[in-house]
Amino acid sequence: MKIVCIGAGYVGGPTMAMIAYKCPEIQVVVVDINQARIDAWNQLDGCELPIYEPGLEEVVQAARGRNLFFSSDTHKHVAEGDIIFVSVNTPTKTRGVGAGKAADLTYWEGAARMIASVSTTSKIVVEKSTVPVKTAEAIEKVLRRNCADPNVQFEILSNPEFLAEGTAIEDLTVPDRVLIGGKETESGQRALAVLKSVYQHWVPDERILCTNLWSAELSKLTANAMLAQRISSVNTISALCEATGADVQQVAHSIGTDSRIGPKFLNASVGFGGSCFQKDILNLVYICEGVGLKQVADYWQSVVSINDYQKQRFVERIIEAMFNTISGKKIAVLGFAFKKDTGDTRETPAIDVCKGLTQDGAKLVIYDPKVTEAQIHQDLATPKFEWDHPQSSGTKSPRSSAITVVEDAYEACEGAHGITILTEWDEFKKLDFEKIYASMMKPAFVFDGRNILDHAKLREIGYIVYALGKPLDPFLKRG
Ligand code: NAD
Ligand code: UDX
Repeated sequence: MKIVCIGAGYVGGPTMAMIAYKCPEIQVVVVDINQARIDAWNQLDGCELPIYEPGLEEVVQAARGRNLFFSSDTHKHVAEGDIIFVSVNTPTKTRGVGAGKAADLTYWEGAARMIASVSTTSKIVVEKSTVPVKTAEAIEKVLRRNCADPNVQFEILSNPEFLAEGTAIEDLTVPDRVLIGGKETESGQRALAVLKSVYQHWVPDERILCTNLWSAELSKLTANAMLAQRISSVNTISALCEATGADVQQVAHSIGTDSRIGPKFLNASVGFGGSCFQKDILNLVYICEGVGLKQVADYWQSVVSINDYQKQRFVERIIEAMFNTISGKKIAVLGFAFKKDTGDTRETPAIDVCKGLTQDGAKLVIYDPKVTEAQIHQDLATPKFEWDHPQSSGTKSPRSSAITVVEDAYEACEGAHGITILTEWDEFKKLDFEKIYASMMKPAFVFDGRNILDHAKLREIGYIVYALGKPLDPFLKRG
């Protein structure tokens, strides 16, 4: 059996590496039109893979060259494949009908047309990308109408990916579930059984869920919407905590012990980020609007609106705390990635927070252990939703003189009026805050957007601390 995956990104790379690692008898080839990305996946020992993910390098090294290959020869490998995973980006549309909400399926359709044009043997085509419900129907039409050989059959499956960045290898090794949706026809069920047999190499049967195509497609959007909704819900409560003197971590713990609610995904934060949550909710909103479910659309839209509110609220807290002016003040930004243990900055809340601060005249000095200077400048210069459209990237972004990127947290904080924590990197907890305090302007502020620091200790040192959803420092209270 030969498996080919179109798209060597955050999903295609790790998922295929895991399949190859667990199924040594299956040949797995990951193809991409981005030559630089393929080259990076093929780097030999000592060089960094194109994405940072704990444990990924070991898995890649064990399988690469044995039964795992990365190539830009898309046509050759797709033509030879039995199962073709499609794991291309499905970003939010930036122009035309549905701009700012609908999923842009240009890359998906391009991949489908290519599969059809090179196929001389029948194939199982697997939707790995997150797509709107009913996409399989459209893709099937594209495949059937564009293949010259009438004997070639395509069977489409939906197999959405649930890994989270930073824990991808763990999530792939012991998944909560693998979801496969297929047609309820004989050939559809046969295809489903083939894909199931791949996962059965390491995933127990009871964790492989089989549904119809539309349920699988919609389950992925729903899972992300529900996860994001929990964060927005707890974030609204963080605002209420600050207004009342309650502590959001105590509230989250108290409600999380109710087994019906559960303890996970209740960390109040400066806002959720990442390439998936906002994009997938907006996509869901667009689908609901399209079928006339306005109230349902409004409900899910509010999850994104609250997320924007939370980022804006954080910026306003900083400005208000610093005597309503941050113009010309140096503010250290610790963390830029959308969460710890990844170098990914897609839709990171740091972008909106940094833009909000610089709009008010602040000078930012940014440090993140895994994000490059070039990436930060590019992110802060790229218009909303444009980041995931390859054709618009690659151009050199203008650099704002208000932004400096450094390679050390101490350097970032030196001479600063305030420190903001925007990513929950473990190393920030271990910083010597006495030393940092001595090097800062006074009063010295800390704005903890992830609630990871020891706030009592910081106050003892002399800092004025704002912690999300925590009783307000008397210094920060109005009046
Ligand atoms: P990505 O941008 O990292 O990777 C997509 C890759 O596809 C890019 O390298 C791009 O060059 C390539 N590509 C685009 N069109 C192509 C074509 N026609 N032929 C060959 N290569 C092509 O994206 P990602 O984060 O891996 O996400 C991929 C999909 O998986 C999206 O639909 C996303 O919503 C979904 N998803 C992402 C995550 C995540 O954590 N990142 C998790 C679950 C699901
Ligand atoms: C998410 C889903 O979790 C995953 O199942 C899906 O496949 C892809 O989208 P990811 O975006 O990689 O994964 O990371 P996730 O851990 O979900 O975090 C998303 C954002 O929410 C991050 O910015 C994170 O910091 C934030 N978050 C998460 C919170 O603010 N509070 C929480 O309690 C949890």
